[in-house]
Amino acid sequence: MITERAPAKINLALHVRHRRPDGYHELETLFAFLRDGDEISAEPGTASFRIDGPFAAGLDAEADNLVTRAASIFAQRFAIRADYVIALTKNLPIASGIGGGSADAAATLRALATLHQIPLDHPTLFACADALGSDVPACLYGRSALGTGRGEQLQPLDGLSDIAVLLVNPGVAVSTGAVFQRWDGIDRGPIGAGPILELAHRGRNDLEPPARLLAPVIDEVIRVLEATEPMLARMSGSGATCFALYASEADRAAAASAIRADRTDWWCLESTLV
Ligand code: C5P
Repeated sequence: MITERAPAKINLALHVRHRRPDGYHELETLFAFLRDGDEISAEPGTASFRIDGPFAAGLDAEADNLVTRAASIFAQRFAIRADYVIALTKNLPIASGIGGGSADAAATLRALATLHQIPLDHPTLFACADALGSDVPACLYGRSALGTGRGEQLQPLDGLSDIAVLLVNPGVAVSTGAVFQRWDGIDRGPIGAGPILELAHRGRNDLEPPARLLAPVIDEVIRVLEATEPMLARMSGSGATCFALYASEADRAAAASAIRADRTDWWCLESTLV
């Protein structure tokens, strides 16, 4: 049996540049990955898919899960029979801007590639990821990177490892498509060039204003995170999860316990960037 981690992704910055004729948006984004996330296991056997973990309930009813889609597309593109027993441990909240579904799909592709001794940099594996969603290639790559195009064109970036990070989600699911639809169409400029943390500081998340329209509680999450005096606090992806970066693990731990004490219904994850 192969077990693969499906790390949470955050967007340190996300600049939306324009809407394309195909309906997608051309963007520039700084992808970063956490040590923690979901987990996938896969082995050959009569095809089945099982979900457990704290956020399993949110996915049970979904017939068209990204994990089973990843397994079918893998089998189809590599001309292999799709007979796998797959299990997902869902630790990350659903529809929350931290790439949970994309990370699960990417981990499934990695697990199946490993089962079949296919190298992880195989172009067909990347093509499978690309077909599954805009964030899946970044999750397959799994390292900090500048993403352009729909987010699928990746250039590696270094300089983040071991930074303490706190994720906070107020328990509101937000649809990525609905957030992009509400973007105001104004190009506020590129991310530019330089060290990744400087770019993150100078950057923005252009999806924050439209996400706030759908989930006003995001304002409060950002305010609460900013009150803990992080190096940076911002919404990730299309929301509603927000992240904060701290100078030390002690600062992060203090922030997490203050928030947990005050907002018992919010989900918090203490982790580090890889
Ligand atoms: O690619 P993915 O299926 O994950 O995207 C979900 C939705 O988010 C798309 O249907 C599209 O509405 C929107 N999207 C976008 N521009 C991107 C990525 C996603 O408009 N670059």
